[in-house]
Amino acid sequence: TIVNCEPLKELIRTVPDFPKPGILFYDITTLLKNKAGMAQLIDAFAAYYIDKEIDLVLGIEARGFIFGPALAYRLNAGFVPVRKPKKLPAPTAKVTYDLEYGSDALEIHLDAIEPGQRVVIVDDLLATGGTMQATVKLVRQLGGEIAGIGFAIELDFLKGRAKFQEYDVFSLLHYDE
Ligand code: PRP
Ligand code: MG
Repeated sequence: TIVNCEPLKELIRTVPDFPKPGILFYDITTLLKNKAGMAQLIDAFAAYYIDKEIDLVLGIEARGFIFGPALAYRLNAGFVPVRKPKKLPAPTAKVTYDLEYGSDALEIHLDAIEPGQRVVIVDDLLATGGTMQATVKLVRQLGGEIAGIGFAIELDFLKGRAKFQEYDVFSLLHYDE
């Protein structure tokens, strides 16, 4: 069953002008520390992906690390970290990308995904989609099958979703401004 997640919005704190003037920051730490909120967040993701035969959950550093592993556990899937440059010890694939505020790069271990494995990529927030697009490229380079792309929060007005038209994009919560 797909749960109505709208009440979770009351647990998300908005912080104006963070990390830069003009940015309204959606802070999920207030949701994560709430017992019922944490459970509902993971339950909602698990309900969506449980029947999709997921092999791996990929979490994007840093905030995708917070709930990606909990989801992987619930799906009986493995967890793979997608990390900022020079954090992973073994050989990696690397992609650079533009961010809502700045530019950065992401890496994945070359042996993190076996060709054909079914992968869900998760992150806390979809803004422009640059971060997720870079991760999609990494998964494709390694031959993974992208079974889903999941976010806790989607900023609809930034239209990041348009970058992922060939994929199943699932966001728990949507904001229009
Ligand atoms: C934030 C957020 C997403 C990304 C969304 O991460 O956690 O990963 O921006 O923006 P986009 O859709 O425009 O790419 P950030 O790069 O600030 O790093 P963090 O998660 O390590 O804090
Ligand atoms: Mg991030």
